[in-house]
Amino acid sequence: MNHQPVEGFSKLSKQRKIDWLISEYLNNDRSYEQILQQYWNNNAELQKLHEEFSENTISNFYMPYGIAPNFLIDGKLLALPMAVEESSVVAAASKAAKFWIDKGGFKTTIINTEKLGHTHFIFNVESHKLLHFFNFRLKKKLFEATEDITANMRKRGGGILDIKLIDKTTEMPNYYQLKASFDTVDSMGANFINSCLEQFGKTLKQEVAENEDFSEEEKNSLQIVMNILSNFTPDCIVRAEVSCKIDDLKDDSGISNEEFAWKFKQAVTIAEIEPFRATTHNKGIMNGVDAVVIATGNDFRATEACAHAYAARNGRYSSLTHCTTDNGIFRFWIDLPISVGVVGGLTNLHPLVKFSLALLGKPSAQELMSIMAVSGLAQNFGALRSLITTGIQKGHMKMHLLNILNQMGATEEEKQHFVTYFKDKTVSHHEVIHEFNRLRGQ
Ligand code: MEV
Repeated sequence: MNHQPVEGFSKLSKQRKIDWLISEYLNNDRSYEQILQQYWNNNAELQKLHEEFSENTISNFYMPYGIAPNFLIDGKLLALPMAVEESSVVAAASKAAKFWIDKGGFKTTIINTEKLGHTHFIFNVESHKLLHFFNFRLKKKLFEATEDITANMRKRGGGILDIKLIDKTTEMPNYYQLKASFDTVDSMGANFINSCLEQFGKTLKQEVAENEDFSEEEKNSLQIVMNILSNFTPDCIVRAEVSCKIDDLKDDSGISNEEFAWKFKQAVTIAEIEPFRATTHNKGIMNGVDAVVIATGNDFRATEACAHAYAARNGRYSSLTHCTTDNGIFRFWIDLPISVGVVGGLTNLHPLVKFSLALLGKPSAQELMSIMAVSGLAQNFGALRSLITTGIQKGHMKMHLLNILNQMGATEEEKQHFVTYFKDKTVSHHEVIHEFNRLRGQ
């Protein structure tokens, strides 16, 4: 069937949007409407709040919201809120937290909290002339022109830290940047940074137009291409680490402490040198990071983009975690660049986000960075621990079992049977189907 483009979809009421979709794409099958309605919240006010988060909303898309308890982080015992659909992530986090709780827990250090943004512009002018103009006139004007925008942030202890002129003309003809660094205190600061940058673009244009050192031809060549924050924040970084004597590792899988430490370090080194493995290794880390990022109303696309850019910063995609086993000490750590907030955005709006932040003891943005890095490190520890001992499928399929059974329409009684059946066996899709058919006499 050929579909017709729709005009003014966003202006239709929710019901009219649904009617249109059902008639245009779903063969007028009204049962699809029930699916959407099942996920509406009975509380009309809450439903409206969700609808207003985004455009063209017709329902809510739920995610499991789980808790990984027993995280000892910098001496505080925390229960981490995790919004994630992958079956084994919360279980792996909880297991890793428990492993480290009697070994001093997780320690974190904020290395820096600097955010970045750029005004990207094209200007056909001698570099030294532009640099002179920047140093002796423009820079001061950029700070002055943004004083209103930065006033509140300055009151909270943040603001614009520095502005530099960057010459990129060897890489692209006439391309320069105003590169600004910011301290956004407890907010992620995207709106603040972008507002400052847009003002930079305007001020640059105006100051060049009014400056007599530039010829008319030079003035006419100036093009502000865009003003935008960078999601790559290599100087907004937190370290999370664990360490213990190799003698205290005591894994319950049957391998010796020395073999565990040796194999673990090999696994990390492989991720450091082999991008194919590093991608999966870091994906596992982000399982832990993103789950807390989402539960606390932060932007997981930004944290993903930043982590992967950082992992590739030396020209080869590599591991975000590292391990040493020197002098009988097992040490495992992550350096995670991550820009998040505890004010602004969804943080004061989404009731579950408020719950998550309250559960974490109303952390500052820096404390939240630490918690997220710990969650990523714990997740990586859990994954590597399984990979070098039992293999990943044992734990993963055990958690996935209920998904398979739900897909097959198993009753509660049948589900109980399967949990007992697989107590000391590795779950496989094939084995579940086989046992399911046997149970139902098929
Ligand atoms: C699965 O979501 C993540 C893992 O593949 C991570 C890893 O291999 O390290 C288990």
